[in-house]
Amino acid sequence: MGYKDTLLSPLKIGKHTCINRFFAQPMECVDSDEEGNPTDLTYQRYEKLYKGEFGFVDLEAITVTNECRARKTQLEIMPRNEKALSVFIKRLKEVNPNVLIVFQLTHSGEISEPDFSRRVTVKPLYGLEGELLTEEEVDNIINQFVLASKICESVGADGIDLKFCHGYLGSQILRPYNDRDWKYGGSWQNRSRFAYDLIERIKREVSKDFIIGSKLSVWEGFPGGCGSAGPDSPLMDLTESIDLVKGLEERGATYFVESLGNVHSSMNFMEAVQDEPYLSYLHFYFANIIKRNVKPETVVIGSSFSPFRGAKNKLLSIEPEKSSMFAMGARCIEDGMMDMIGLGRQSFADPLTPFKLREGRENEIKYCTQCMNCEELMIRQQSVGCVAFNKAYAEVFQKTRKQFGKLAELHT
Ligand SMILES: Cc1cc2nc3c(=O)[nH]c(=O)nc-3n(C[C@H](O)[C@H](O)[C@H](O)COP(=O)(O)O)c2cc1C
Repeated sequence: MGYKDTLLSPLKIGKHTCINRFFAQPMECVDSDEEGNPTDLTYQRYEKLYKGEFGFVDLEAITVTNECRARKTQLEIMPRNEKALSVFIKRLKEVNPNVLIVFQLTHSGEISEPDFSRRVTVKPLYGLEGELLTEEEVDNIINQFVLASKICESVGADGIDLKFCHGYLGSQILRPYNDRDWKYGGSWQNRSRFAYDLIERIKREVSKDFIIGSKLSVWEGFPGGCGSAGPDSPLMDLTESIDLVKGLEERGATYFVESLGNVHSSMNFMEAVQDEPYLSYLHFYFANIIKRNVKPETVVIGSSFSPFRGAKNKLLSIEPEKSSMFAMGARCIEDGMMDMIGLGRQSFADPLTPFKLREGRENEIKYCTQCMNCEELMIRQQSVGCVAFNKAYAEVFQKTRKQFGKLAELHT
């Protein structure tokens, strides 16, 4: 079987059918209106992914509260957003009724930007201050996630992604570093309480076929981060990460998106940069660990495929035709390491990627260069898109550089 057959074969997620193996990663684009509703710009981005025939789309980090948020114009999911989100989903379903869409529900916690919101923390990480969250506040955050899930279902989305990755609140609570003795910290039983109570509560409030899953940083890549052996241990230990996927699965999760790293201190594990494309191989190891620990029908989605590009990539040591994004993606699926491939930056570079593959127009695909200018736009709180291949965003980027200068470091 060639890679085209593998990547274009359908797949079940719970009771739903995904038309192919392409997953559009959640990609924050900072282009909502002041109330957190999608704008025309937001719609145009997703319309392209729908036309591009991504089988499964994860709507970017949408915050369950506007009190604490990472981006000034971040999508929000509260009762006031219900109407706009309904219209948004209705329009997208008209473009392509076969695409599945979930919303990535998030709370930014210590990654919230203090210039316009409240930075809160379960235990301040070095370099990040914040007001200590109380047990009552976390109880209330669970209520906000549950309400957001109900809104998500009522506006016509197919499901949710509980964001337990990249150092946002979901991962802050889970990590061993959260060793404060409180209802949500200290022992693994306490640190996993947020995730498990949350999914149990949501499951009771939504219909049986509503898709629930999670994108997780299996390993955060710093001492005390998720997937480490203790509150300050630099040693990797995946016992808790494995328990987490099993625990979420037992409580109703039907898919997982593998991820690594943390936006504050270990960004390159999350997004392999131009000079280190080989970091992508790490992701396959962790996706495979998830796959080995869940039921065969639970869908596992791998990350970090953008650096493989067409055959013209920086992955040396193997023949180019075996290292392209499609060849590598199909290989990972055929070898049973994962069921779908996630495209993040590539979905910016060419949102029509799956469509062009299906149509036999591979030679027209534009491949992500890992210039990381999209990331810089996000950090500068500008609307985000592909600077390399989309003129409008190239102009936004030029203006941003003029106004703020070059970024010294790429984080948060
Ligand atoms: C501009 C930008 C925004 C992102 N926004 C999100 C997000 O909202 N949620 C998330 O889980 N990951 C987010 N990510 C990470 C990607 O989803 C993905 O995991 C990462 O880029 C690796 O995949 P890739 O190599 O295909 O780009 C973002 C990355 C970038 C560059």
